[in-house]
Amino acid sequence: MNILTINGPNLNLLGTREPDIYGTDTLDELMLWLKNSPEAAGHSFKFYQSNHEGDLIDSIHDEREWAEGMIINPAAYTHYSYAIRDAILATGIPTVEVHLSDIHSREEFRQKSVISSVCIAQITGMGKHSYLEGLKFLTKN
Ligand code: DQA
Repeated sequence: MNILTINGPNLNLLGTREPDIYGTDTLDELMLWLKNSPEAAGHSFKFYQSNHEGDLIDSIHDEREWAEGMIINPAAYTHYSYAIRDAILATGIPTVEVHLSDIHSREEFRQKSVISSVCIAQITGMGKHSYLEGLKFLTKN
């Protein structure tokens, strides 16, 4: 399966960004760990990170022919980006929304996702294992 992995704003600072919430792995370490997991064997990956909404949308559009599934952590855009939501709908890529932290037990504004209803699953609060569970869900469904 061709899997597009999209990470949104501020996730480039993983490793030093609020490590008590997001852990100490850098984004590169996390993506390498995912790619090298036994569950990833036989699948192809492309990884994108951007701090800009339009860039994230362009990446989804650009890979719409290639991608057979998408793992997306839209970061703060989760809570208000109707444009990213529309990009998922417009491309029809089966998508799993993932979060490192448990957005449902954090500030009220984080508890709402405008993305989840266009995704096949939402996995939160498992640290880097949220991505792995997302991969497992995508490849089994
Ligand atoms: C996050 C949760 C979001 O609320 C936050 O804005 C992020 C990271 C997570 O992975 O836990 O940047 O998506």
